[in-house]
Amino acid sequence: MRRRRRTRADVATTQENPLLEGLPLAQTPEPCVLTIFGASGDLTKRKIFPAIYALAFRRLLPENFAILGAARSDWSDEEFRHNMEAAVREFGRDAFREDVWNRLAEATSYIPLSEDEQAMEKLASSLTELDEARGTMGNRVYYLAVPPAAMPQLAQALGKLRETEGWTRLIVEKPFGRDRASAHELNELIWTYFAEDEVFRIDHYLGKETVQNMAALRFANGIFEPIWNRQFIDHVQITVGESMGIEGRADYYEKAGAIRDIFQNHMLQLVALTAMEPPSDFTAESVRNEKVKVLKSIHTPGPKHVVRGQYGRGYVEGIEVPGYREEPSVDPGSMTETYVAAKLFVDNWRWADTPFYVRTGKRLPRRETTIAIQFKRAPHPPFAEAAAEELRPNVLIVHVQPDEGVSLAIGAKVPGLGVKLRTVHMDFVYGGAFHVELPEAYERLLLDAMRGDATLFTRADEVDEQWAIVDAILAFWQRDRPAFPNYPAGTWGPPSADALLHRDGRSWRHH
Ligand code: NDP
Ligand code: BG6
Repeated sequence: MRRRRRTRADVATTQENPLLEGLPLAQTPEPCVLTIFGASGDLTKRKIFPAIYALAFRRLLPENFAILGAARSDWSDEEFRHNMEAAVREFGRDAFREDVWNRLAEATSYIPLSEDEQAMEKLASSLTELDEARGTMGNRVYYLAVPPAAMPQLAQALGKLRETEGWTRLIVEKPFGRDRASAHELNELIWTYFAEDEVFRIDHYLGKETVQNMAALRFANGIFEPIWNRQFIDHVQITVGESMGIEGRADYYEKAGAIRDIFQNHMLQLVALTAMEPPSDFTAESVRNEKVKVLKSIHTPGPKHVVRGQYGRGYVEGIEVPGYREEPSVDPGSMTETYVAAKLFVDNWRWADTPFYVRTGKRLPRRETTIAIQFKRAPHPPFAEAAAEELRPNVLIVHVQPDEGVSLAIGAKVPGLGVKLRTVHMDFVYGGAFHVELPEAYERLLLDAMRGDATLFTRADEVDEQWAIVDAILAFWQRDRPAFPNYPAGTWGPPSADALLHRDGRSWRHH
């Protein structure tokens, strides 16, 4: 979040090339090899490689650069390049340009990771060859885009591989571990070989423009902070909804479920950014100190206030889709949850007794991530009840995605004789205000990691506090066995999620 002041040169470059707006131009990373473990997986194809292409498209990568894909699949360099070209064409946000792709393809190779002892030796010699061929000077970025179970072994093997020449950075995907104890162990293992400032625990929600804008909204505007507390806010609702299913990721998802996949990381980071106190500055340490304080103060009031669900067969956007248990490689009796809703409290002076209702799920009716701050009703509306029956309390909604922006619901008089009030929206839409397409989170984060800037990555103590919350919920879940599936694909989750709010006389924001 720390931003270098823009120089005149930056402004000129941006004006010449509007594509560069919104991405940091402070410094091109130093020469390096980016090794992606999990190169045959969904994340590499859907997010990482398209992000690398977007950086290449904008000439933000170093001249001396190489990408080495690694996974157990027995692919050749050619197959990897072919698959990544298809991924860039399908998921890239820019036009496909042969010249950009050819330069990138030239820098791209693949190494199959055999299960034997020699795998890492082979990797080391490939890296040395790349240094010679591409002038990457022994600098390494290792990206662990693999399921949590594969992380410890890889981190250890890479630690043992440490060379003296050049710098090393380790990017670790979420979820970091599978509970508090295993996250602890993974940290200890990583710290045996890597210094904390070489470790980049990724939570790509922190790289989203709209998520970073939460801080701008709260702390760059004098009008919000005085009312950002229990006195004026009735409750907060955070939704991370996806219409997608598990996209063939059963191996990973069966062990993760929605609680480890989204709630432990993306969701709790959104809560922390919404609830944190203003940091004294926007350095990595100050921001992370404030987030940790919030995470430490979160509790959920008990098992009744956490709902889990699993989708059955249904219709999403008009298309019939299978139930979770019918997805390829999923156990037909699977008890993995694809939906979680919870009521959380932040135990401090600012938020005491103000509920944060959060929910996330796969195969919901549409993709929608929003943070809705619902204010209390005006204390004494001097209007007849009938005039105000269509009036809802003020809500400030941060649209994280899609239709990125912020809107404020306010009451207004319907034009005409007499008094009739209705809720209307004041909208700020990114596209309209800035006329640029927003960069994908992974573009920003890859660039930051290559440059060694950890501001938008999570610190070990944040991850630890996140797990403490999740461990408490997992302990509740030991005690019962819900009847899954309990929501049809294409609906907003199980009925018990609605009951969670109805009990408090509230309801989820209209869908
Ligand atoms: P996938 O199951 O699609 O891919 C997992 C990858 O890891 C495959 O390339 C697999 O390849 C490789 N792999 C598995 N075990 C090992 C091992 N022991 N050694 C080396 N490679 C291994 O999962 P995703 O790509 O979806 O997820 C990977 C990570 O990325 C997860 O931690 C997830 O939370 C995170 N993530 C995913 C996102 C997404 O949109 N998909 C978004 C954000 C984060 P092979 O079998 O060939 O070895
Ligand atoms: C990942 C999860 O962390 O985030 C995926 O592993 C999920 O299951 C993805 O689909 C959502 O990311 P985004 O940026 O599309 O909201």
